Amino acid sequence: MKYTLNVNGQSQTVDVAPDTPMLWVLRDTLNLTGTKFGCGLGQCGACTIHVGGIPMRSCMLPVSTAVGMKLTTIEGLSPTGEHPLQKTWCDGDVPQCGYCQSGQIMTAAALLASNSQPTDDEINGAMAGNLCRCGTYTRIREGIKRAAAMAAPSA
Ligand code: FES
Ligand code: FES
Repeated sequence: MKYTLNVNGQSQTVDVAPDTPMLWVLRDTLNLTGTKFGCGLGQCGACTIHVGGIPMRSCMLPVSTAVGMKLTTIEGLSPTGEHPLQKTWCDGDVPQCGYCQSGQIMTAAALLASNSQPTDDEINGAMAGNLCRCGTYTRIREGIKRAAAMAAPSA
């Protein structure tokens, strides 16, 4: 079936089965491979995208229910790759293997969009569902804090 989707601000028409997870539509049909397949079960966060600004697991989102929603992937987070989190991720060498990191950044970006100065507990709560097999959690949290500091009003 044909579905017209709003992905990163662009209208995209795809022809796939109704129950195809958005993860595979993004990766295989639209060639947006920044979104990663980790577990396919909604449990790791590697496939996180924004749906109307809310972080969601694209492996659990059938294409048929994504119609009419504003979908944002890591490729659409910043056209120039200069989102504060992308800067602090690079500056702080946050990734190790990198596999989980687009999902980490998308979850963190949704957090900062709704709460520009999160507490440590709020960061921990928001990020708890994004797993990193390389154990980069400390650098991830520091990257979020530094991005929040960049956005903080100067005294
Ligand atoms: S691949 Fe979607 S949550 Fe793991
Ligand atoms: S950096 Fe390797 S899984 Fe997170």
